[in-house]
Amino acid sequence: MLPSIHQLSQTLVNKIAAGEVIERPASVVKELLENALDAGATRIEIEIEDGGLGLIRITDDGCGIVPSELPLAFATHATSKLTTDEDLFAISTMGFRGEALASIGSVSHARILSRTADSDAAYEIFDRGGAISDPQAAAGNVGTTLEVRNLFFNTPGRRKFLRGPSTEFSHISEAVLRLAIPHPAIAFKLSHNNRSVLDLPATTEIDRWLAAWPQEFIEQRLSVQTRDAELILRGIIGLPEMARPTAKWQYFYLNGRTIRDRVLQHALREAYRGLTEPGRQPAAILLIDMPPSDVDVNVHPTKAEVRFKDSGHMHSLILSAVREKLLGADLTPRAVPRDNTAPIIERRQLQEQLAAFFKQPPSQETFPSTPNAPAPEIKGGQSRSESEPQPKPRWASVIPETPRITSLPSSSTSATPAIQLHNSYLVAESDDGLIIIDQHALHERIMYEELSARLSRGPLESQRMLLPITLPASARQIDLLEQIKPLLARLGIELSQIGPSAVAIHAFPSFLSKLDPADFVTELLERGEQELLDLTQEEMLHGVLDMMACKAAVKAGDPLTPAEIEALLAKRGLIDRSSNCPHGRPTTLRLSLRDLEKQFKRTGF
Ligand SMILES: Nc1ncnc2c1ncn2[C@@H]1O[C@H](COP(=O)(O)OP(=O)(O)OP(=O)(O)O)[C@@H](O)[C@H]1O
Ligand SMILES: [Mg+2]
Repeated sequence: MLPSIHQLSQTLVNKIAAGEVIERPASVVKELLENALDAGATRIEIEIEDGGLGLIRITDDGCGIVPSELPLAFATHATSKLTTDEDLFAISTMGFRGEALASIGSVSHARILSRTADSDAAYEIFDRGGAISDPQAAAGNVGTTLEVRNLFFNTPGRRKFLRGPSTEFSHISEAVLRLAIPHPAIAFKLSHNNRSVLDLPATTEIDRWLAAWPQEFIEQRLSVQTRDAELILRGIIGLPEMARPTAKWQYFYLNGRTIRDRVLQHALREAYRGLTEPGRQPAAILLIDMPPSDVDVNVHPTKAEVRFKDSGHMHSLILSAVREKLLGADLTPRAVPRDNTAPIIERRQLQEQLAAFFKQPPSQETFPSTPNAPAPEIKGGQSRSESEPQPKPRWASVIPETPRITSLPSSSTSATPAIQLHNSYLVAESDDGLIIIDQHALHERIMYEELSARLSRGPLESQRMLLPITLPASARQIDLLEQIKPLLARLGIELSQIGPSAVAIHAFPSFLSKLDPADFVTELLERGEQELLDLTQEEMLHGVLDMMACKAAVKAGDPLTPAEIEALLAKRGLIDRSSNCPHGRPTTLRLSLRDLEKQFKRTGF
């Protein structure tokens, strides 16, 4: 027998909608909080029992609902937030579908208690799995209380997939925090089984943002702010060392709505490229405001994803704002964790103690002595580059004929010499302690920055081979060669395919003259076929430059002359991103006097 086509009952339709919107107790909390925000609440209290499976009660002091409209609040496709078709394309409220309460009511026992400012009494209404009662007078304050009990009582499948109360509650508290971050003027209180868990009084924007991050991140941040004709971007970003394997500490908002967006996430990660190890996720709270008509929020059941009219523009705005901020900051990681409770010691005293530590007389000038060495401390907000623009490096001297380190003019000589240890590490005095530098990692970063700056003026100089050098190559390597040929030409490497399984080197960069071209190209092709194939041109360029910088840089184990050490340290202050090598590993560690005192248990100072 043919199955007959028939219209679904309204309760079934609602349950299907609930399946999309209400995944777990935290989704109920999110919807109810959004309603409270749309109602203009200034204080919102969230009471949870048993991870939301026992009770979810959200009380706000917003505009309330008039008694005659209470049944509509639980009705499907009933909303006060959209009127005309055009409204859908410029949404400025969190809700607009008129679906959330109907969905929630269809899978729970829900109650609305609400009172408007001009009414003497409150009214209540119940929705028990789709059975909606008549409104009745009840006692209550101005505003709305929404209670949800027995969630998923009639959808056992969904209930089975829930985790224990503590896991469900952790999703709820995360949802509350996420929503609270862009709304600092609204007070939020969250309790679980009558125990207060989160109390966020109305506060400043920055204080509210910081409530979302662990305590130890708080000093380690920079603020970001930019705008153009259509967009305002503001927020805070964490220093690269705070990057974590997951995106847990990343929060993106669009017009006050929390969103997930691959384009924005990619832009953020791109901005940190070379500063964190690959795969790590920087911490960031970024809020974007734009005209509601430039974004479509009606693309995802829970509105967690949106569609931007111009996502390329968003990407470049975030990338440039974040990158600029990072380039202007001193990102040197500390050798031992920060101790916020240590007493603040005057800078002069610090210098004296440091000098004594090294059994040297105190010096007038502290290291690094380049006039534009970045500020040692980052206090959230202003980086020094905003007030003192960094000079452009002196490119004339930057690409040495051989990959040794060239000297800088004597004006940049340092008063306190650095020491080379084990032919691998340099140790030098800094404003508030000492720095330990990995000579290879730092030189690699310097070479990388100098090479990329040099490249922007045209192809690198190369030397032509008297006789081409031929090398065996696999089909995959030849494929790669076709992809990277133009890029290699810019870098001064000329390669061509000769025959089905060989390539020839015709020219090789002058500054790599110390290297054996055959060895270098063999390694380039071998590594390239694993790492470079199918990348974008920019990513490939980064990969090859990386390799060149690595090969050209001094190695661990290379003894350096005092002039070379001095030049290396002076350049550290002149180049961008000197804190990390192009692979993201640190070049420099910092040990403050305070750290040393702590380690030596010399706390009596
Ligand atoms: N806390 C509240 N205070 C005042 N009015 C509310 C509150 N919660 C809901 N309402 C009213 O009930 C209506 C229905 O709420 P519901 O959440 O179902 O839909 P919505 O917010 O309009 O759209 P969406 O389904 O996208 O959330 C709202 O449009 C609003 O008028
Ligand atoms: Mg809603």
